[in-house]
Amino acid sequence: MLKHFLFAILSFLVLFMIGVFAYRDVKAEWKDYQVTYNEKLAKVVNDPTIAKKPLHVEQIWNNALNRADRCTTCHAGIGNPAFANEPQPYKTHPNLTGYMSKHPFEKVGCTICHEGDGQAVTVEKTHGVVHHLDRQLRTAPTVQGSCTKCHYDLYSETVYWPEVPELMKGISLARELGCGACHTIRQLGTVATLAPELSSVGSKTELAFYLVHDFSKVVSKEHTMRAWEFEHFKDPQKIVPGTMNAANPKDRIPPTIMPNWGLTDDEATALTVFVMSLRDLKVEAIPRQYLPKVASHDSFLQYRN
Ligand code: HEC
Ligand code: HEC
Ligand code: HEC
Ligand code: HEC
Repeated sequence: MLKHFLFAILSFLVLFMIGVFAYRDVKAEWKDYQVTYNEKLAKVVNDPTIAKKPLHVEQIWNNALNRADRCTTCHAGIGNPAFANEPQPYKTHPNLTGYMSKHPFEKVGCTICHEGDGQAVTVEKTHGVVHHLDRQLRTAPTVQGSCTKCHYDLYSETVYWPEVPELMKGISLARELGCGACHTIRQLGTVATLAPELSSVGSKTELAFYLVHDFSKVVSKEHTMRAWEFEHFKDPQKIVPGTMNAANPKDRIPPTIMPNWGLTDDEATALTVFVMSLRDLKVEAIPRQYLPKVASHDSFLQYRN
């Protein structure tokens, strides 16, 4: 009798789970976005049949870059100039006909610049704070810290790119404030050893960062690299206060010696973009055919070997 009862319960559970999965698939949120996009597009091009188009997960696949990005499943209007005034996720990409045309979506995808989980098709998994992720989605302005995966010359003193204002501001602040007096930053040509090397901070995974940084003094609920860096720039001694109250004198460590410059939010943001741009070229491993052909690059390529 008990066996029958258990069997009935288990059968019910299995059926219930199948039902839940089926429902989730039919109700997938990306479908709502795609339907709305198709309806909008049908109006724009005056072709009602488009509104009835079958729905499917879109994917930009690039083996050489190791990407399979599904962002366009929802961001369907990203390459369509007619959608410049639409809300997200339908809106045209900024600078579509400007520098973005040098990196066509169908060739490089999205996560090469935006990082994040290219395979996910829910807002929560693509845009939320996902701790186990290798890399958190980068929106403006931290996404500017991805250009340096390929454009190594952005650190040159003679280069100024108006396309990436926060990055430019961060680089010039780093020079002005003399970060290189304590930190080795290969990109700026500094070799100090008073503090950890920063040359590859931007290539760390979220998890690797999270495991070795103390978030207990960070106010933001978002325990990510960008949140820690920002608050650390605003007040280094608050985030790294040391342990001077420890009972055992041997455990006492003074607060960090990194100066508190009284930075504005904009300055702390710019420096966050800067440190998140510092890439380990071996980790990024962008194939040569995807790198711009700039003569000064040759001197950087040695770091890849
Ligand atoms: C399930 C649908 C969906 C998918 C998949 C999706 N997005 Fe979005 N995206 C949205 C929506 C909705 C918004 C606007 C609301 C918001 O910011 O959450 C948005 C906003 C954005 C923004 C602007 C956010 C900001 O704060 O400025 C960026 C950048 C973005 N998406 C990039 C991506 C990238 C890159 C991917 C792929 C890794 C992706 N999205 C995948 C639905 C999606
Ligand atoms: C070459 C790097 C690069 C690639 C590739 C790229 N983006 Fe972006 N994206 C950026 C930058 C930089 C910004 C911020 C631009 C700005 O604020 O002017 C941005 C902004 C956005 C925004 C916010 C737009 C807004 O109006 O606030 C969305 C959404 C977005 N990207 C989605 C995507 C999707 C989806 C893809 C792939 C189809 C993609 N991006 C590919 C660099 C890139
Ligand atoms: C995957 C490597 C890669 C990434 C990441 C990348 N670019 Fe590029 N970019 C290129 C290549 C390759 C070219 C040259 C294309 C050509 O010659 O037509 C280029 C060209 C450009 C140009 C035209 C001027 C020039 O020097 O050729 C601008 C401006 C530009 N990129 C801006 C950006 C910005 C801004 C970002 C970050 C948001 C970015 N790129 C990220 C590879 C990349
Ligand atoms: C007087 C020396 C000194 C100067 C100048 C200095 N720092 Fe630091 N910095 C440190 C020390 C020591 C640490 C390690 C303890 C800590 O996290 O505060 C550190 C930590 C950091 C970290 C965290 C690194 C990690 O992975 O844990 C970043 C990022 C950073 N500094 C960036 C900067 C930048 C950018 C500048 C210039 C605007 C700068 N620092 C100037 C001493 C300095």
